[in-house]
Amino acid sequence: MDADFWHQRWQDNQIGFHQDRPSPLLLKHWPSLGLAGGSRVFVPLAGKTLDMAWFASQGHRVLGVELSQLAVEAFFAELGLTPEVSESRYGSHYRAGAIELICGDAFALDAQALGDCAAVFDRAALIALPPPLRQRYADELYPRLQPGCRGLLITLEYPQHEKQGPPFCVSEAEVRALYARDWDVTTLERRDILAQQPGFVVEGVTALETIVYALGRR
Ligand SMILES: C[S@@+](CC[C@H](N)C(=O)[O-])C[C@H]1O[C@@H](n2cnc3c(N)ncnc32)[C@H](O)[C@@H]1O
Repeated sequence: MDADFWHQRWQDNQIGFHQDRPSPLLLKHWPSLGLAGGSRVFVPLAGKTLDMAWFASQGHRVLGVELSQLAVEAFFAELGLTPEVSESRYGSHYRAGAIELICGDAFALDAQALGDCAAVFDRAALIALPPPLRQRYADELYPRLQPGCRGLLITLEYPQHEKQGPPFCVSEAEVRALYARDWDVTTLERRDILAQQPGFVVEGVTALETIVYALGRR
């Protein structure tokens, strides 16, 4: 899953992961984090998710990062927003109101870029990555978030041999191993969603669960 893979997905409009509303599991579980209004939320591998707009509507500031310029420009255009654009060593920064979306590589963001993010929201980011990149994501990107940072992580579990990722199955044991060094991991919900995902059934998947974790950086 290199950059070309994702650019092609956006070029071909193969974006089945995109939802036309904020994630229901985000709306349900975010309040449990007790985050102060105005806190900045990091949204890695953001696509054009409406979760970013929801965070802004809740009084948060948002820092997203997304490889695809198509996705970044579609995000603002579909909301009727005209972003200001500037360049830095991280990529092109698109800003409108409380939302800043960097068109660039998430792995290039350093502690300075992420320094004032008090929270992180990962939906379809960790599970978009194959195993070696998942390890890099947890080992290199997450340590750049500050102690006290809180967040939600939403994953999928299904028999991996029944379908090729992405999205990949990431087991609870793997999540706990990936984040064990610096993060407290709490399972908030585990839900059977096979009936709501006919695409998986068509591909021969026989079981599918989504899991929501709370993360807290020690
Ligand atoms: C499965 S999509 C999920 C998007 C979004 N989180 C959502 O819920 O709709 C994964 C996204 O990550 C982007 N991506 C993949 N690797 C990336 C990287 N290294 N840095 C920034 N974005 C990346 C892809 O272009 C794609 O839009």
